[in-house]
Amino acid sequence: MRLLFQNNILLVIYNNKWNKDNSMLQIKLPFDPPKSGMKHLSYRDRLLRLLEGDLDFHGQKNTTAIHTWHAFPAKFPPQLPRVFITELTQPGDIVFDPMMGSCTTLVEAVTLERRAVGTDIDPLSIQLGLAKLSAGDVTNVLVSGRELAKKAKQNLSNHVKSLKKNLKNRFDSKTEAFVNYWFAPATQLELIALINEIENIKDKKLRTLFTLIFSAIIITKSGGVSLARDLAHTRPHRVKDKIPKSAIEEFTKRLHRNLNNLTCQTQTASLILEANSQDLPLANHSIDLIITSPPYASNAIDYMRAHKFSLVWLGHSVTTLSKIRRTYIGGETITGFDMLSLPEYTRRIVDNLAAVDQKKGKVLNRYYSEMSRTLSEMHRVLRPGCAAVIVVGTSLIRGLNIEIQSCLKEIGEQNGLEHIHTGIRRLDRDKRMMPARWNKKRNTGIEARMHEEYIIGFQKPERQL
Ligand SMILES: C[S@@+](CC[C@H](N)C(=O)[O-])C[C@H]1O[C@@H](n2cnc3c(N)ncnc32)[C@H](O)[C@@H]1O
Repeated sequence: MRLLFQNNILLVIYNNKWNKDNSMLQIKLPFDPPKSGMKHLSYRDRLLRLLEGDLDFHGQKNTTAIHTWHAFPAKFPPQLPRVFITELTQPGDIVFDPMMGSCTTLVEAVTLERRAVGTDIDPLSIQLGLAKLSAGDVTNVLVSGRELAKKAKQNLSNHVKSLKKNLKNRFDSKTEAFVNYWFAPATQLELIALINEIENIKDKKLRTLFTLIFSAIIITKSGGVSLARDLAHTRPHRVKDKIPKSAIEEFTKRLHRNLNNLTCQTQTASLILEANSQDLPLANHSIDLIITSPPYASNAIDYMRAHKFSLVWLGHSVTTLSKIRRTYIGGETITGFDMLSLPEYTRRIVDNLAAVDQKKGKVLNRYYSEMSRTLSEMHRVLRPGCAAVIVVGTSLIRGLNIEIQSCLKEIGEQNGLEHIHTGIRRLDRDKRMMPARWNKKRNTGIEARMHEEYIIGFQKPERQL
């Protein structure tokens, strides 16, 4: 576990227009935080009412631009954490996401003046958290960002030799082979020129923000500046004849786009930790609300496969990243993982799958074992009487419904949580970052898994203090 950032936050306030000299930005007033409409109900009834209500949020606009700063698979719609945070917590309360991904829960929490805590094992998620939950003065961001791009361009014209040398020294041989396969030589030079300048920036907040922008130009729906066809949605496919856009120009565009139209973030504290959800570095009874979504069972979305594309530029080798990938909940490796004794119904589902495909049965056993340890940790850190809301997608493995909603309910109860209700959310395929459908058939493979998801609501009983 590494403590990366504490106490502080965010803030960026501005208008979507800046003066020509970029020195004076107008301030946009903060939006009115939504008010609770359920304060007359008991905590339990509020949770129940929310879970029974409309959780589709179709056609609703995202009001917080930070959520669009970087592509990330299977993000929450921000409205989802927002309604639970609004109705179940007060300003100053601590909201936690143990698998924070692109930090949707955390950003919503601080926007609503709650304190935010998040953990993840993915280094990209940590980067996104650091950038989203901190930020420098916006005038500096624009001026420094343009300056940075200009210097990178100059180095590209005047110092190609030394950039080539930097490239040679930056990667080990395996990582270099990966970079050579996925990035055209001209793009590599632009990227090394950009990352050199980013790493030279002294201000940590600015540096993390530019690092996010750098990563966002690589991991995009269209494969960004790499030779991949589509990184945000699918397994990467290399397109040999793709003509990648200029990385430096994309960086400048993305800088403006990310800073455009930002709404105000109120200042509250946040804590971002690189940690495994099965072993949380948090005190007992310290959290007022958990909202999270674990990965799909059976590795339906392979986060690292796409994240590697930018992480190799941020100092991670492909070997280290492969090691991290093994530790994702939902991973397919089974050797060296401790399986727990699962409750009866879940055991039966695992056995049914094992009867069809022994290996897949073991993988599912690992998934539910790891979710059991995660739910046990969630129970430990929650304050008695408080809620944990878990969002999970449906899954068919080898044609068998693995009944994730029933199994996680059972596992949560085994770990001392009281199940309040499970709501259903129909996915808006146009919005959600899911693996794209390449053929017209519906309800096959991944398509069948992902048209709806469950919102499982638990409460930690009061008496367990
Ligand atoms: C579905 S995504 C979360 C998306 C998030 N709700 C959002 O809005 O962006 C699942 C996350 O779980 C993380 N994860 C997987 N295994 C983990 C573990 N053992 N501990 C902590 N995080 C883990 C992944 O890195 C990924 O970021």
